[in-house]
Amino acid sequence: MIKQSEAIDACHKALLDKYDRNVPRYTSYPTATHFDSGVNEQIYHSWISNLNKGDSVSLYFHIPFCQQLCWFCGCSTKIVKRYNPVQSYVELLEKEKKLITELLPSSLDVRHIHFGGGSPNILRCEDFSRILKLSNEKFTLHKQAEIAVEVDPRTISSQMIVTLAKEGVTRVSLGVQDVNLKVQKAINRIQPYEKIQQVVDSFRLNGIEKINFDLIYGLPYQSCESIIHTIDLVSKLRPDRISLFGYAHVPWMRRHQLLINETNLPDIYSRFQLYQSAVDRLKHQGYVQIGMDHFALPDDEMLKAKNEKTLKRNFQGYTTDPAQVLLGFGASSIGYTQEGYVQNTSALKDYELALNQNRLPVSRGIQLSSDDLIRREVIETLMCYLEVNLEMVLAEYNLDPEFFSGELIELKTMEKAGLVRIKNLHITIPAENRVFVRSVCSLFDSFLKTNKAQHSLPV
Ligand SMILES: C[S@@+](CC[C@H](N)C(=O)[O-])C[C@H]1O[C@@H](n2cnc3c(N)ncnc32)[C@H](O)[C@@H]1O
Ligand code: SF4
Repeated sequence: MIKQSEAIDACHKALLDKYDRNVPRYTSYPTATHFDSGVNEQIYHSWISNLNKGDSVSLYFHIPFCQQLCWFCGCSTKIVKRYNPVQSYVELLEKEKKLITELLPSSLDVRHIHFGGGSPNILRCEDFSRILKLSNEKFTLHKQAEIAVEVDPRTISSQMIVTLAKEGVTRVSLGVQDVNLKVQKAINRIQPYEKIQQVVDSFRLNGIEKINFDLIYGLPYQSCESIIHTIDLVSKLRPDRISLFGYAHVPWMRRHQLLINETNLPDIYSRFQLYQSAVDRLKHQGYVQIGMDHFALPDDEMLKAKNEKTLKRNFQGYTTDPAQVLLGFGASSIGYTQEGYVQNTSALKDYELALNQNRLPVSRGIQLSSDDLIRREVIETLMCYLEVNLEMVLAEYNLDPEFFSGELIELKTMEKAGLVRIKNLHITIPAENRVFVRSVCSLFDSFLKTNKAQHSLPV
C-alpha cells in the first residue's frame, strides 16, 4: 500500500485509526447483503397487488453488459463481444415487463425511469426504444418525470445520442473516473478527455442538458495533484452533478479486481487526503456538496431538494425521486414497495430460466419490520443531511425514551473523539467529518451487530 500519512491532521488521523472498519454504503436499509430468499415471487406478487390506481412509481431497467472490463468495476455486468446475448436479454426483459405490467393497476404515475448497468448504451437504438415503450393503460409519465441513462462515453454512438434525445431522456450519467493516463492504464480503462468533451457537446447539441459525471478516488497511482488535475479538467465541461465515489475494493465479491495491483492502492490515510483534495477542489470549481459523495451546481434541483428536506437515498445514490415504489426489471435489479425490498436473480441463466417458465425472476429481498423502518429513517436522514434529531424519531414512532440508549453510548464515544456533536438528542456530523457518515450510520444498523458481512472501507 502507498502511504502518505505525513500531512494528515492529528484529529482526522486518530478518527481514521479508530473507525477503520468496513461499512456499507447505505443505499438502502437493511442493505442488500441482508436480503434473503424469504422474499420470493409470491410475496413480490402480493406486494405489487397492493398498489392502487394512480400511485406514484419509478422504474429501473438493468442492462448488465459492457464491451470491455474495467478492473475496478463493482457493478453487475458481463463483457460481450457480440450483440446476440444482448438481443436475447432484451427479449427476456420484455417478457418480464409484460408479466409485471399484467399485475399492475391502471394509470400509475411514473416519476423516474432509470437505465443502469453495465452500459445501457450497448443497446441497439431500436431496443432502447422498445424497452422504454410502456403500456399507456398502466403507466402515465409525470410531466416532470426524469428519464436517466448511465452511459459509457467511450462506446456511445452518435446515433444512440440522437435516439436518447428523441425518446425524451432528460439526464445522462457518464462514467469518467479519472483523466490521468497512468491511473487509466492501471484500471484498464483508457478514456481520453477529448472523448468525454465530444460526447458532452453532442448530448447538449441534441438537447440533453442534464449531465452527471462519476469520478472515483482511491484508485491506483492517484495523488492529490492528479485528482485536482482531473477535477479542474472535467469541471470545465460544467456537468450539473458530479458523484465522487470512494473506490470499493472488494475482490472477495468481484474477483477481477485482483487484476489491480494492491500495492499501488492508496492506504486509508491517503484515501482520506485524496477525498479531501477532491472535495476542496470541487467547491473551488463552484460545486456544492450534498451528503457524502454528491456535488451539484448551485441552481441544481438536488440542492433544492436538500434545502426543502425532500432529498432521498436510493440505489443510484442521492435522488430527488419522490416515488415510494420502485419497480426493478432485469437481472440483479432491486426494487422496493412500502412492504420491503426485492431483488431479481443476478445469474443470467436463472433469469432466463424463470422467464421462460413465465415466472418472475425474484431471488431474494427483505420484508421491512417496524424496527427496520425506524432505523432506515435515522440512517437515511443522516446520509442525506448529516444530522438527525432522535427526539423527533422517538416521538414520530411513539417509542420508549430508552430505545436508542445503546446507540447513544457509542455516540458519546464518537463525540469524545470529535466525530459528532450531540445536543440533547440532536446528532450532527460536522462538515469536516462528513466522510465518516457511514460509520455513524452503522451504529444504528442492527444487522451489522449480528452479521460479519464485509463491506468497503469507511472513507
Ligand atoms: C454502471 S457504471 C456507469 C456507466 C458506464 N458503465 C461507465 O462505466 O461509464 C456506474 C459507476 O459506478 C462506479 N463504480 C463502479 N465500480 C466501482 C467501485 N468498485 N468502487 C466505486 N465506484 C465504482 C463508477 O464510477 C461507474 O461510473
Ligand atoms: S465501470 Fe462501467 S464500463 Fe466499466 S465494466 Fe463497470 S459497468 Fe462496464
